[in-house]
Amino acid sequence: MKKKVSLTGIKPTGQVHIGNYLGAIKQALQLSEKYEARYFIADYHALNTVKNREQLTHATYGVAASWIASGLNPDTVLLYRQSDVPETFELSTFLMAFTAKGHMNRAHAYKDKVQKNLAEGKEADDSVNMGLYTYPVLMAADILLFNTDIVPVGKDQKQHVEICADIAGSINHCYGENLLTIPTPVMNEMTETVTGLDGRKMSKSYDNTIPLFMPSKELRKLVMKIVTNSQGIEEPKDPDICNVFSIYKLFATLEEQQNLRQRYLAGGMGWGHAKQELFEKLEQTFGEKRTHYEELMKDQSYLDKVLSEGAQKAREIAAQTMKRLRSAAGLSR
Ligand code: TRP
Repeated sequence: MKKKVSLTGIKPTGQVHIGNYLGAIKQALQLSEKYEARYFIADYHALNTVKNREQLTHATYGVAASWIASGLNPDTVLLYRQSDVPETFELSTFLMAFTAKGHMNRAHAYKDKVQKNLAEGKEADDSVNMGLYTYPVLMAADILLFNTDIVPVGKDQKQHVEICADIAGSINHCYGENLLTIPTPVMNEMTETVTGLDGRKMSKSYDNTIPLFMPSKELRKLVMKIVTNSQGIEEPKDPDICNVFSIYKLFATLEEQQNLRQRYLAGGMGWGHAKQELFEKLEQTFGEKRTHYEELMKDQSYLDKVLSEGAQKAREIAAQTMKRLRSAAGLSR
């Protein structure tokens, strides 16, 4: 039987952080064992906010290297850059004709921005570009082009995948029910639960992330900056309201968690000690992968090769989808 397709993308808008890893990368890699996996770097989505050549290029390599260092095998998983697949933009235009404007008004990336603007006393559409407004259409093109069955994403992207399914439904209704594969979002609850340095959800927009492959020294400094309360060393501490413990839990075994929990409750352990435990846990979890990441980033010729091979394969699949669609709709073939 033909394998089902799993597809997801990561925007190169900054450094990949442990929230991305737990919320997207890890699950996507597990799925790649059973599914035909197609994972990409959403650089056109990043263009909405990143308007600096060096920054975008560096972050694009960073995402590619993060995928590979995290365990993606380019021989079995299709890894490519969105901007290498021009069919994406052709399909976007096609999809526009089937996308209700009201959907875009309600799409959460746009709506959040509007709410923020209004809260700050600005005009609703202040610094909103059309890329942000039509964000779900481009995302739908990413998904539909590759005959995607499932889309592993964080909760915040669920609605975008549903909009995609809706658009695909209208197209199928019009031209034949089997023309496009209707995708289903596969949620990972993890994304919502990764705590950032300041105790809020870990997110680039809060500037509270722990980058996945940060050099050891810098990582230690960052971990030491995690916000805690001002309890002294001797005082017993509550692990369940502690940002340090909350992150530690994500990587430690149950037994390790129990041990650290006891030390919190017993008193005599300062925040510096707890943070050191977390730092060591992160080192143990990501140390080796980081070395691989650094090698990949130092010599980018390997990444170039993987991405260019990925581009070629991706375009073959994409071209077939476009051909089917053009033909169904009566457009030039
Ligand atoms: N919007 C996604 C995010 O911000 C990234 C993305 C772009 C994506 N295109 C996609 C995810 C297609 C899944 C499928 O995380």
